[in-house]
Amino acid sequence: MKKITIAIDGFSSTGKSTVAKQLARVLGYVYVDSGAMYRAVTLYAMQNQMISKDYFDVEKLIANLGAIKLSFKYNDTLGFAEMYLNGVNVENEIRTLEVSQSVSQVAEISEVRRMLVLQQQQMGQEKGVVMDGRDIGTVVFPEAELKFFMTASAETRAKRRYKELLERNDDVSYEDVLKNVESRDLIDSTREDSPLMKADDAIEIDNSNLSLTVQFEKLYALAKNAIEHE
Ligand code: DC
Repeated sequence: MKKITIAIDGFSSTGKSTVAKQLARVLGYVYVDSGAMYRAVTLYAMQNQMISKDYFDVEKLIANLGAIKLSFKYNDTLGFAEMYLNGVNVENEIRTLEVSQSVSQVAEISEVRRMLVLQQQQMGQEKGVVMDGRDIGTVVFPEAELKFFMTASAETRAKRRYKELLERNDDVSYEDVLKNVESRDLIDSTREDSPLMKADDAIEIDNSNLSLTVQFEKLYALAKNAIEHE
């Protein structure tokens, strides 16, 4: 059977990665979390004193992009590929609120986007890939056979994210998480280069009131149909 490309875009914490991982697993496709790549570049900038709460040396980060080597390695136990930054597993470190608070600023930089989009296109050139992010259906794979655009209210998303961070024992308040979700929405959708937007041919899924199972069944049925018609 022919393989297709599935693009899943949407606002932060809409559960894109959960459903993308599930879809990839049942279809036998590769899952790529493009947000993890922006997060890893952000972590590199933090580790090298290029960015902090009120400081960002954009030129220094751009000058050092060549020193950032990103790779994904499949973890059999977890059932998905983890993010490596210069050979080090950073899958946990890139999920902290500190990284979330700086990542949208890093994702605004065209040089960073150009580098990551190229790598993402290479990862998907054989098709058989489910990639989630903000610009997958619009910029990375505008020709993708199937595109989803996920939405949910900011409060619903902040509650989900807060629960996740608590489970990881992160010391955060719900108010800070909600503020972060809202400020990332604003930066992600108003930035000049590749702002978050729904591709004309994307199917919009508002999952504020959808269970994970119902949501998965819906996307899986659409994916099976798209694959059969290839
Ligand atoms: O999906 P996420 O929340 O892990 O993404 C982290 C940030 O990276 C998000 O605030 C915007 C940016 N991003 C992007 O600009 N383009 C992508 N394709 C994926 C993520």
